[in-house]
Amino acid sequence: MKLLFYLSGENLELAKEEVLALTHMKKYKQYGRVVLLNTKKFDFSRLAFTKKVLKLVFVSSEKELEKNVKRVNWQRNYKKDYCVRAHGLDEKKLADLIWYKLKEPKVNLKNPKTLFEFFKVEKRVVCGQLIEVTGKGFKQRRPDLRPGFHPSSMVPKLARACVNLSSIKPKQKMYDPFCGTGGMMIEAGLIGCKVVGSDLSENMLKKAKLNLDHFNIKNYKLFKADATKTNVKCDAIVTDPPYGKASALFKTDRVELYENFLKNAYNFMKNGSKLVMVLPNTIKFKTPFKKIKTIDYYVHHSMTRRIYIMVK
Ligand SMILES: C[S@@+](CC[C@H](N)C(=O)[O-])C[C@H]1O[C@@H](n2cnc3c(N)ncnc32)[C@H](O)[C@@H]1O
Repeated sequence: MKLLFYLSGENLELAKEEVLALTHMKKYKQYGRVVLLNTKKFDFSRLAFTKKVLKLVFVSSEKELEKNVKRVNWQRNYKKDYCVRAHGLDEKKLADLIWYKLKEPKVNLKNPKTLFEFFKVEKRVVCGQLIEVTGKGFKQRRPDLRPGFHPSSMVPKLARACVNLSSIKPKQKMYDPFCGTGGMMIEAGLIGCKVVGSDLSENMLKKAKLNLDHFNIKNYKLFKADATKTNVKCDAIVTDPPYGKASALFKTDRVELYENFLKNAYNFMKNGSKLVMVLPNTIKFKTPFKKIKTIDYYVHHSMTRRIYIMVK
């Protein structure tokens, strides 16, 4: 099925990589915020940095748009009523053209069963039929709204994207060895993964338990451990180790901590499994894993996070 992913404009690289990690596709086309690729349906609701997923209808030049609109059999995908949305184009004109191609058209602007959308991107027009609006619910899970709060927990939208970058599937096991209050575990748990977390701080583990129970995540395990010494059979590791306050680092040198953690994880992870780790972009470290991608995520003027996607 040819799909159109309409990405959130915040970080196009991250948004695109998230789609590619979940579809396992190498062949795709990107026009600005639009990514087109041929793939099977999956749980689109798990995407964090995609706004909508649509079934691709056509790609056209702006000049040939009218001709292409007239050529499409709009009736084929029409259900009950419809609405046309056009971004950067004459919506009324496009809606009229489609109206004349439908048998008994009924317009519904509020809650249409059939929504055709046109996007003007890089001198082209891409048209699709809406399947799903994605990226919902992240604001309600903000760290400050959870029962176990700690300021070091990253925003759920970014945590979900990191989970997705690991390509983990529902029922597989995700492990976070610096789990803190459980931000990564919540996001993986909500898409149906088994989740395991460990941390050196008992206080953090208590908060993680409160949070996981709050979001009704059943399949989880938490334990106290040093991330440089654990051994957990898992399908992926997704984590954001400590980098700022000395207290969170338990007096260890941070680069030494990251390198020892990576060396240890390399010993117990399966070949081909992914490790996604987030650090400030200024930190240099050595790793036995193969770095397959790095993506920068701007937080504020003095902090850009770098997401490392590695594979054993
Ligand atoms: C940036 S926080 C993780 C935040 C987490 N993602 C969340 O949602 O709350 C880093 C965590 O690493 C823990 N930590 C520090 N050194 C550790 C070590 N050697 N082994 C395990 N955990 C450690 C800290 O206690 C802290 O909870």
